[in-house]
Amino acid sequence: MSPVAQQFTEQNDTLNEASVRTDLIPIFIMGKKYDVPSTLTIQKAFEYAGYQLIRGCGCRGGICGACATVYRLPGSAKISVGLACQTVVQPNMYLTMIPFFPANRAVYNLDELEPDAQTILKYYPELAKCMGCNTCTKSCPMEIPVMEYISAALRGDIEQAAEISMSCVMCGICAARCPAELGQYNIGIMCRRITGKHIKPKAKHVGEMIERVNSGRYEEPLNKLVKSDIETLRKLYVERQMEPHTAPEEWTPDKKDYL
Ligand code: SF4
Ligand code: SF4
Ligand code: FES
Repeated sequence: MSPVAQQFTEQNDTLNEASVRTDLIPIFIMGKKYDVPSTLTIQKAFEYAGYQLIRGCGCRGGICGACATVYRLPGSAKISVGLACQTVVQPNMYLTMIPFFPANRAVYNLDELEPDAQTILKYYPELAKCMGCNTCTKSCPMEIPVMEYISAALRGDIEQAAEISMSCVMCGICAARCPAELGQYNIGIMCRRITGKHIKPKAKHVGEMIERVNSGRYEEPLNKLVKSDIETLRKLYVERQMEPHTAPEEWTPDKKDYL
């Protein structure tokens, strides 16, 4: 390499290094300091710092609730919470992930449950200890009014508890913060199950689909797919008819082999 080219390369390396380095910020993962790019989510910052996430990492899209994280910013006593895959790092944040919280989880036979307050209290008697502090609502990364669905469950309005808790991702942060030691998300899912099983009318289209499955309608096309080689499957996938964005609810593809 000529001296001029050498100098140019060295200058470029220095510039590249500077441009990479300038966006690094310090964060503290379980008390240990790491410099990470300021644009990363907490989840990616963990990986940038060398952690391999085996638990506490699922969808990476704010859906599965596996990545509950608590953190504190300097100069504040406040404990903040968030989903690691959705929350961007901030300078000097102290954080740790709590991918599992051992909240009470009742075992029950859904078919036998009555849709009333006594049922919920039988399986979750701690529900009566709720003191209305609203810490659960303030800590929910999905911005669910958690205390409201807990109150609805307590007064036996199971359908309302189900509706309010519908977007719960089961991250467990509310339970981790609750002074009355409730496992709110398990109470919420019980209300949703009871609502689906005993309160809402049966969905006609689901019933029809179950009948079609039980009739063996899909055995042959499924077996055909299972026995297909990778190229055939790829072709089928690539050439499948896509549902238009503005399609009406009753839209179906022209080819109905798999319907
Ligand atoms: S944090 Fe616990 S005690 Fe406070 S309102 Fe929520 S469920 Fe009730
Ligand atoms: S209700 Fe609780 S478990 Fe559900 S998303 Fe909110 S904090 Fe997470
Ligand atoms: S990894 Fe699924 S919500 Fe974060």
